[in-house]
Amino acid sequence: MADDISAWEQHAGWWQDDFTDGADIEYVEQIIPMFLEHVSGVRRLLDVGTGEGQLAREAMSAAGVAEAVGLDPTVAQLRAAVERGGGPGYVRGFADHLPFGDATFDGVVACLVFEHIEAYRQAVAEVARVLEPGGRFLFFMNHPLLQAPGSGWIDDHILEEQYWRVGPYLVEDLSMEEVAAGVLLPFIHRPLSLYVNACIDAGLQIVRMEEPAPPEGFIAQAPEYREAASIPRLLFLHTVKR
Ligand SMILES: C[S@@+](CC[C@H](N)C(=O)[O-])C[C@H]1O[C@@H](n2cnc3c(N)ncnc32)[C@H](O)[C@@H]1O
Repeated sequence: MADDISAWEQHAGWWQDDFTDGADIEYVEQIIPMFLEHVSGVRRLLDVGTGEGQLAREAMSAAGVAEAVGLDPTVAQLRAAVERGGGPGYVRGFADHLPFGDATFDGVVACLVFEHIEAYRQAVAEVARVLEPGGRFLFFMNHPLLQAPGSGWIDDHILEEQYWRVGPYLVEDLSMEEVAAGVLLPFIHRPLSLYVNACIDAGLQIVRMEEPAPPEGFIAQAPEYREAASIPRLLFLHTVKR
């Protein structure tokens, strides 16, 4: 189901309107700045699951990356990416079959993509294959522990307790999630160990991990989240190909 990208074709406009071009405070205040810091020094970048290309564009305009290629299976995303221009080239394809030779890039990024991919081990192996030795994989995902399905802030008025409930964490779970009214997209929850071990098995060494608190601008827009501000929404791994 997750590699059926019809839901992405249908809802690409929702993603573009709500999460790109400055529309989403977490991208503006957190994801893009972290990405720019970690991509600095890369010459040739692949953006896997590029969407409408915001990270590929930023890499070229703000981080001095000479060449960026965005890959995505969704035509409606690639069409917007090409229209928005800004330097990157675009290729249609899936993360688990990258149409590039071995050691083509010195940097790969995947941002909020692997939680939509069924063949995640093959996709991580493909990332490692197209990286040259010493190249880096910048891996952003929704935090798998604290954002597992069924997780969330509980305000228990009977027990007068407030806490963050963690949903079933160890269960690999593919579900269609309604992320906005009428917008259903496939999400796969997996425990963090599966991603970490896929990286290790592919020869990608973790050199940095970040679990940032939600940025202030996000909390200002979602005041009910202030109580839960110590719960990260994002997880980032910086890995290097050995
Ligand atoms: C949440 S969007 C993130 C887009 C972009 N990375 C960003 O940060 O703006 C997820 C993207 O993953 C793409 N996607 C879904 N399945 C994929 C697959 N098997 N391989 C590569 N990309 C995929 C979707 O088409 C969509 O553009």
